[in-house]
Amino acid sequence: AQAVLAPQDLAGQHLLVTAGPTREELDPVRYLSNYSSGKMGYAIARAARMRGADVVLVSGPTFLTPPQGVTLIPVVSAEQMRKTVLDALPKATAVVKSAAVADYRPASLSTQKLKKSDEDMTLVLEKNPDILAEVGAGKEGRVLVGFAAETQDLLKHAADKLKRKNLDLIVANDVTQAGAGFDVDTNIVKLLHADGHVEALPQLSKDEVAHQLLDRVVELLKQREA
Ligand code: CTP
Ligand code: CA
Repeated sequence: AQAVLAPQDLAGQHLLVTAGPTREELDPVRYLSNYSSGKMGYAIARAARMRGADVVLVSGPTFLTPPQGVTLIPVVSAEQMRKTVLDALPKATAVVKSAAVADYRPASLSTQKLKKSDEDMTLVLEKNPDILAEVGAGKEGRVLVGFAAETQDLLKHAADKLKRKNLDLIVANDVTQAGAGFDVDTNIVKLLHADGHVEALPQLSKDEVAHQLLDRVVELLKQREA
């Protein structure tokens, strides 16, 4: 019923959304990851579908129910997410990257469970590819939205990512604030645009943040078509 009430202002658009954490395997029983719940990305996918978009949701491991009508592609590692995103990219008219991609992975994956010894242990990590930067470098006419989760110097770091990754918009999120961040149902974000203007949104539900964000995406898509 909600879908009928929502404006169909994304009809005909192909949205590619990423969500959740990635998991970087160390051995058959262990991995490196982060606290991302996937809630923000799932809210965006659901809202975009309600507004008429064709939605592909590339998601790391979460406990969430996939939104109806959305094509869910589950992935585990950053490398899998990269491959899946690049495969889905040609069709996409807009890309929203809310996934919390692990920046590093264990340099070697042990096929057997690592055994403890009496010594301390040092893990060697190697860098994962930056998926969003790669999508930004080959952006073509797409609308590209990123996220920045920060614990300090929010606007400075977010503005830097916006530029470095060739984004149209970045959602900046101070994860140290109560009512923002990983496992809560609300968010307090600032939207930074490529032309430098910044909008501070009040504390909103993640569903409301999703719709606010999609309002901006609709505007950007209109500018593209004009
Ligand atoms: N991102 C990505 N691939 C990565 C790392 C991040 O696509 N390997 C994307 C995230 O999905 C997000 C944006 O880049 O949309 C910013 O992620 P964030 O972790 O805040 O920034 P980083 O560039 O990784 O910088 P840092 O973690 O050092 O703050
Ligand atoms: Ca990061």
